[in-house]
Amino acid sequence: MQKKTGIGMVAVKNSGHYGLSGYYAEQAVKKNLITMIYTNAPPAVAPHGALKSLFGTNPICFGTPTGSKVPFILDTSISMINRGKIRVAARSNQKIPEGVALDKFGKPTTNAKKALEGVQLPIAGFRGSGLAWMVDILSGVLTGGNHAGKVKDPFDDFSGPQNIGHLFITFKTNLFVNNFNNRIKDNIKTIKRLPRIKGIKEIMYPGQNKYKRFKMNSKKEINISEIIKKDLKILKN
Ligand SMILES: NC(=O)c1ccc[n+]([C@@H]2O[C@H](COP(=O)([O-])OP(=O)(O)OC[C@H]3O[C@@H](n4cnc5c(N)ncnc54)[C@H](O)[C@@H]3O)[C@@H](O)[C@H]2O)c1
Repeated sequence: MQKKTGIGMVAVKNSGHYGLSGYYAEQAVKKNLITMIYTNAPPAVAPHGALKSLFGTNPICFGTPTGSKVPFILDTSISMINRGKIRVAARSNQKIPEGVALDKFGKPTTNAKKALEGVQLPIAGFRGSGLAWMVDILSGVLTGGNHAGKVKDPFDDFSGPQNIGHLFITFKTNLFVNNFNNRIKDNIKTIKRLPRIKGIKEIMYPGQNKYKRFKMNSKKEINISEIIKKDLKILKN
């Protein structure tokens, strides 16, 4: 379909946790395509005004070629921090930052265990809540997957399949203009040349920070914490 019309759209249902949206975006961008990717996830975030979690951390992902080897990939949860970070903090008895979660009574908390029992907060208040809702509609309601808080938690609920939904949209860069590469290079150059606030060395586009980290970490050893090592041993046996 994509070769003929320039646009391809794939809906997936009956799925499980697919990891990082950015991984799939990279595949599309390597083929010189723009992509938009949505997935829902188990309840973690309270809709604006609610005291109960219903939305997942529902990441929103947008990727585009940049005319350079570093792709633009905006891949972000709609929660203040992702749930994995809270789980890691809970296991290692570390505090979580202020303003990212409420306990089960609706009080702000920095206690990771209490945050897991309570609700995570969306980015930017009702705006983040609206984005989470949009992702639930696109990846759950539209695809035939679970939605409205029915996606099961892969860590705590083994009563059946998760039935997560995903939506992948990809399209060619030359649908409306034939000089996309020059236009995006110009766009990025203009933004990067803006005067910077104190302490900021470079204005980066989304994905650039992760590419830098990837390059740096590829040359280093990977340290695995004792807790993870223990888990890996249990899984191996
Ligand atoms: N499958 C699931 O259910 C699920 C749920 C939630 C999150 N996730 C995945 O977890 C991963 C992490 O999500 P996250 O919300 O913690 O992402 P994050 O906060 O690390 O990054 C969000 C975005 O901001 C960009 N960014 C970060 N610092 C920047 C800077 N200084 N300048 C410019 N851009 C910058 C990043 O490149 C990224 O695109 C994502 O890959 C996401 O897909 C998956």
